[in-house]
Amino acid sequence: MKSISLDLHGVSEFINETDMELMKDKVYKAHDMLENKSGLGSNMLGWLKLPENRNDEEIKRIKSAAEKIKKQADVFVVVGIGGSYLGAKAIIDIFSNSFNNLLSREDRKTPEIIFAGNTLSAKYIRNLVEYIKDKDVAINVISKSGTTLEPAITFRILREFLEKKYGITGAAQRIYVTTDERKGILHDIAIKQEYEMFVIPDDVGGRYSVLTPVGLLPMAVANIDIEDILDGALFASHVFNQKDIEINDCYKYAAIRNILYQKGKSIEILASYEPSFQYFIEWFKQLFGESEGKENKGIYPSGALFTTDLHSMGQLIQEGTRNIFETVIDIAIDRSFIQLPAIKDNSDGLNYLADKDIDYINKQAFLGTVKAHVDGGVPNIIIQMEDITEYNVGQLIYFFEKACAISGYILGVNPFNQPGVESYKRNMMDLLKKEEK
Ligand code: PA5
Repeated sequence: MKSISLDLHGVSEFINETDMELMKDKVYKAHDMLENKSGLGSNMLGWLKLPENRNDEEIKRIKSAAEKIKKQADVFVVVGIGGSYLGAKAIIDIFSNSFNNLLSREDRKTPEIIFAGNTLSAKYIRNLVEYIKDKDVAINVISKSGTTLEPAITFRILREFLEKKYGITGAAQRIYVTTDERKGILHDIAIKQEYEMFVIPDDVGGRYSVLTPVGLLPMAVANIDIEDILDGALFASHVFNQKDIEINDCYKYAAIRNILYQKGKSIEILASYEPSFQYFIEWFKQLFGESEGKENKGIYPSGALFTTDLHSMGQLIQEGTRNIFETVIDIAIDRSFIQLPAIKDNSDGLNYLADKDIDYINKQAFLGTVKAHVDGGVPNIIIQMEDITEYNVGQLIYFFEKACAISGYILGVNPFNQPGVESYKRNMMDLLKKEEK
């Protein structure tokens, strides 16, 4: 059942039929490039077929590792950076209680899940080691290359911690590695130490890897139904592969953001009225930023959580430089059901909202904001999602991945490489090696 669709009333005054007609050909060309594997980076298209080529044996192994982790750990540390953690963190946050790590183990029904290896902050790493000192810990270290400095440093520290605490063989039972099937330092360590290993397929890049064990193992530990996620993505892979822009909302989205870009809207804000989408926005930013931002081109992907950020960024969005468009994720049904109580003396003056569902109030804020921003010259693309289920979120993941690939090809770049990321790494390694001497 289709549960992701576009509402385009907030863009109609900014684009016209001719714009769409001209962009349609580019979308179809991009579609053909993906289908025929004739575009740039075509050796990295494995993500397209991940839901279709689901490996049931692997799913079984992921679920059984997750069960083992749940039994052995109070704290499960996921070590990875960029595409090797953002997807898992995004989806786990969406399905978790807002105060998850503060709940008791019984209420949470999962270990506390902590993300590390995504920073070189000494404070963060020291605090982490101190925090887990007296707790039972399992870790999942995730790195496709196996050489990325941030996770490698954190892994060394955590590995030493685990080996001191549980002995070398005890630690090996608590270390789960997700990496390349054949090569890399992490791969070699995992083989030598006999850590349980999961594979990131060769033809799937980091930021397109959330539907591989990179995302699926941490999600399974968080009690997320990973098969429903994959079912949703499978459905989306059919719906969003139709070469007909009239019915394919994913292609429509890719087309519209490029039309807006051509008209000078070079910043896209992905907005949500649901704070648990904060890391979904971060995942989106990495997906689009690393895929499109090259050759002096690319829409700058940013994010906002409304209504919170209306009180910080709202002014700039409403009246600042007119180079912004917004893409808003609207969730039709919220199942939290909490109403504002009526009070006798109406001392706070809020009785006009008495008995109203908070989600209804949030919706009115959304509708009012879309209208204000559109009136202020900020086009709004609305992505509607029926409600927050694994099946729907699986669709949403695929929607954005496919839109990103199509959009990158429309832009004329390779959406599957990231040559620019190497520059800082080279400089940093030069400096670190210099200090060694
Ligand atoms: O999308 C990408 O390829 C990157 O963001 C990587 O995921 C990130 O740099 C981490 O790389 P690795 O998994 O090799 O440690």
